[in-house]
Amino acid sequence: MGLGVYLTLKWLHVLSATVVIGGIATLPLVRAFARRERLGDAPVARILEAIGTRLVVPAAGLLLVTGLLLASGFSWVGSLYTLVGARWPLLGLGLWVLIALLMSTLVGATARRLARGDTDAALWTRWRIGLASAGVLLVAAEAVMVFKPAL
Ligand code: HEM
Repeated sequence: MGLGVYLTLKWLHVLSATVVIGGIATLPLVRAFARRERLGDAPVARILEAIGTRLVVPAAGLLLVTGLLLASGFSWVGSLYTLVGARWPLLGLGLWVLIALLMSTLVGATARRLARGDTDAALWTRWRIGLASAGVLLVAAEAVMVFKPAL
């Protein structure tokens, strides 16, 4: 892979990480503002869901694709070599999967229930726990990427 292609992929990778982190950081702020303004739970959950599906999910997809391409150097052998050999990209991949699971279940699915009018008080607690856990893992993944620990 030429340096220009590599750096373009890396630029897209960092850009998408920025959008994922910014998008996820926006969610609790929107929720706090909506509570202060006493907006109803269902419309707020619909706004949160829209930010998630229209901004965070596409950026997370681009983050994964560009990360795998960077790690592979456009070759299956190179990909296996980087993932298994360097190991930190494998850790990044594992963290990405965990974050995606948390965001689609505890955060996304819960927001969809709230958006449909479910008023179970435990739902917001579940949403907050899912979001906080995904946030911590995301910050950890970013650190793994930058420090590239020798594992
Ligand atoms: C939660 C997810 C992720 C975040 C927040 C993230 C963030 C970043 C950032 C900020 C860099 C730039 C580091 C630097 O220039 O020193 C980077 C580099 C890189 N990422 Fe990720 N990344 C994530 C997931 C992944 C995944 C799943 C893979 C693929 C297995 C991957 C593969 C790479 C590679 C190979 C580089 C090295 C680029 C270089 O230094 O030339 N990343 N990542």
